Amino acid sequence: MTATKLSKEYVKQLKTQGEDAIKDALHPSQDSRVLTYVLHNLGRLPSNFNGTCFLPLIKHKHKNIRLLAVKNIGKLADVEFLDEMLAVVKNDDSTDVKREAVSSVGRMRNEKTIPALINILNNNDPKIVLQAIRALMIFRDSKEARHSVLQLKTHPNEIIQAVIEKEFSKTESLDRNKPKHPESPDYLINTVVHGNVLEILKSVPDESIHLTFTSPPYYNSRDYSTYQSYDEYLELLREVFQAVHRITKDGRFFVLNTSPIIIPRVSRQHSSKRYPIPFDIHPYLLDMGWEFIDDIIWLKPETSVKNRNAGFLQHRKPLAYKPNSTTEYIMVYRKQTHKLLDWNISQYDSQIVNSSKVLGKYETSNVWRIAPTTDKTHSAVFPAELCNRIIEFYSYELDLVFDPFAGAGTFGKSANNLSRYYFLTEIAKLYFDRIKEVLTQSKSFSPNVNQSFLTDAEFKKNAKRFEHGG
Ligand SMILES: C[S@@+](CC[C@H](N)C(=O)[O-])C[C@H]1O[C@@H](n2cnc3c(N)ncnc32)[C@H](O)[C@@H]1O
Repeated sequence: MTATKLSKEYVKQLKTQGEDAIKDALHPSQDSRVLTYVLHNLGRLPSNFNGTCFLPLIKHKHKNIRLLAVKNIGKLADVEFLDEMLAVVKNDDSTDVKREAVSSVGRMRNEKTIPALINILNNNDPKIVLQAIRALMIFRDSKEARHSVLQLKTHPNEIIQAVIEKEFSKTESLDRNKPKHPESPDYLINTVVHGNVLEILKSVPDESIHLTFTSPPYYNSRDYSTYQSYDEYLELLREVFQAVHRITKDGRFFVLNTSPIIIPRVSRQHSSKRYPIPFDIHPYLLDMGWEFIDDIIWLKPETSVKNRNAGFLQHRKPLAYKPNSTTEYIMVYRKQTHKLLDWNISQYDSQIVNSSKVLGKYETSNVWRIAPTTDKTHSAVFPAELCNRIIEFYSYELDLVFDPFAGAGTFGKSANNLSRYYFLTEIAKLYFDRIKEVLTQSKSFSPNVNQSFLTDAEFKKNAKRFEHGG
């Protein structure tokens, strides 16, 4: 057989001719391309196929041939091959081949494999251990298998820990008082509260919000914010995002827009100082139970940002290079859960799923080119396009979306335009009034739902009434 005659038809013929013909085609002396092609295209094996033709190939010098031979042995699901597969796990130098061998042991679905699989749990490669866990899950009724897998709860590898936690955690009891996933408490819907978000969130129940998108104050780089220290600033953000985590529904998203900022130098004798806000907040977010999902770069035209090049343009001296900051980070997190995204999506009826589909052209990369925008009152507002994308990609129609640092309320306006409800908080009266102006001017998608612009005290009263079922 020459490599050039290889075709699916040829492999089909081999299969109809029987095991001897396949054995010839898979003789270890065959050209590697033939072996790879035949092994790859064998598909379902004929019944009563004994599979011994694969055994010499599990020691072939080419990794891919060994891998395919092991895979084909897996299709036989025959415990007779257990020892050979265990020898591969022990001796092969490729992780992929070893993992495939553990998978083949799993496919045997035979209790005789349990002690061997338990032994593999001690392997020092987490990928091999994970494959053995998967195989042992089939025997979750076996005390021995269950006990051994559960012992890995404290395994140093985080993925192993998470898999065990998920597989063996008790199924959640149905809490009848918990609102359905698409629903939120009425008193939050289309509500804007004037006050400190930390205080306001104390009156918001757990798991009320579907999506949060926010741009927090830029430490002390704008006139509307004054913090005693960077630590005090980070602590405020930590507390707010911890509260946001509590009020976010299971498996839903938190999208954070920040960028490193510069505090200008005090005098020519000092340097300016740069604060890497997104990188400093990120570890806090992971700690409090947000799972990192994506980093999106918001890229602005260079003409729209402050020029820092004037000096370097003249002197051209290395070390004193200062690029113009044309980017901001849009960091996407999900509230950690065992549930898959499919679970979240399945909570909505098909009509909402259909009407929420993101149709037409959309940005496929993580670089979003969007020009900044201005507002007559607020000096740092979101462009509507940015809010629209976040809302469309990370929420469903009629969801409740939240911005704790609402500024001029741009996120609320976009939410309404895209048939989502909003909940906003803003500490500065000037900006709270601007939100009121912006939102009362825009036509509501749900005219039957009132808009509420409340003080913190009024909001707390509403929360109490809700708590007492009123
Ligand atoms: C960067 S701006 C947000 C602008 C907003 N994204 C927009 O499109 O208009 C941050 C806002 O957070 C507000 N803020 C700061 N600390 C706050 C707090 N503790 N509670 C509520 N709002 C706060 C500031 O007054 C400011 O308007």
